Amino acid sequence: MSSVSTCQTEAQGEGLTPTALGALTGETPFLACDTSVAGLQLRELSAHLPGFAIHYAVKCNPTPQVLTALAGKGCRFEVASIGELAMVEAIGTAASEVLFSNPVKPPAAIAEAHRRGLTRFAFDSECEVRKLATHAPGSRVYVRLAVDDTNSRFPLSRKFGADLEEAERLLLLARDLGLVPYGVTFHVGSQCTDPSAWPRAIRRCGDLFEGLSRNGIVLEMLDIGGGFPVEYTEPTPALASIAVAIRAAIDQLPYAPKVLVAEPGRFLAAGCGVMVASVIGLADRADGRWAYLDVGGYHGMMEAVQTGGQWQFPLHTSRPESDSEPHAAFTVTGPTCDASDTLFYGASLPEKLEVGDRVYIGMAGAYSLSYASAFNGFPPPVLVLVDGDRAT
Ligand SMILES: Cc1ncc(COP(=O)(O)O)c(C=O)c1O
Repeated sequence: MSSVSTCQTEAQGEGLTPTALGALTGETPFLACDTSVAGLQLRELSAHLPGFAIHYAVKCNPTPQVLTALAGKGCRFEVASIGELAMVEAIGTAASEVLFSNPVKPPAAIAEAHRRGLTRFAFDSECEVRKLATHAPGSRVYVRLAVDDTNSRFPLSRKFGADLEEAERLLLLARDLGLVPYGVTFHVGSQCTDPSAWPRAIRRCGDLFEGLSRNGIVLEMLDIGGGFPVEYTEPTPALASIAVAIRAAIDQLPYAPKVLVAEPGRFLAAGCGVMVASVIGLADRADGRWAYLDVGGYHGMMEAVQTGGQWQFPLHTSRPESDSEPHAAFTVTGPTCDASDTLFYGASLPEKLEVGDRVYIGMAGAYSLSYASAFNGFPPPVLVLVDGDRAT
């Protein structure tokens, strides 16, 4: 059964307390967003990882408000496409400061990024190295290593990443093709709850450093990717313990890379958003009670769908919360004529839930709006800022 949280998690801001959310009367669905939370999370990460350049993964929440808030606190960016590069350029970031960490890119995107002044590109295949040599000659390239991501909610290493020998071969090939072998990156998978995943991956990078040293190559950059977990309804390892493990592993490397990078997405953005939805229908089916919301998987809550409804978000509703208000288990679904937009199974919500009540889905600032579509004619949620610069 999904647990219900009527209180805020630590990562949520002033503008996102139940009282503040209750005062928002605009039409649903919308993502109430307090960008100051992203700034606070950035500060925490930077404090635990001194000496690291933090490049926010734009795909996580690319709204200009979040990007601007982060840039204002000294954050840099990592992009996956020309569209994302344009977004960070639009808020005043120079392409030369940006990492293009998508390991597989359309040739035209490589050429266009290069033309705009971006000089650092990830790759993990021979095909990509050859594309980079053709379309971004002379640029600095970093290899994506496949690492163990089994203890993450959203693994990535099946789709991306070269093994150790291949990574070494590819960096040598890059050099032969006139590129600059610049660094190594990995991703332990998103929402990784195993602090030992990072040091394990960093040790593999150390093995790569050793192999390359024998060929006269010293890599400048170690990019430890993202994956830093945040608390939804279950406790997660403290950032401090992850950071200690990371720093200890870096101290053991054959040499100290000049440039250390982390690419957090979820850790910065999740807590800055609460998805505000309305109940549009209720039904008793053979398998129990269903609540239909005006937001579903296609309107931003895609991660709930990707995990088969097993991903638990903190929920509360606009109904008065008291111990005497009985709760019941609901299947919570979206507004479309499709069954695949269902979000939660067995979610505990007030039994007397009615059409028009609001349901607040907490920790929804990451990987939500960036997925939202107007599928089935239902408009995607808008962003409603609830911090300093109140605006929508
Ligand atoms: C290349 C890259 N870097 C960083 C991230 C951010 O990851 P997370 O949101 O888990 O921190 C992602 C997300 O999948 C990614 O693909």
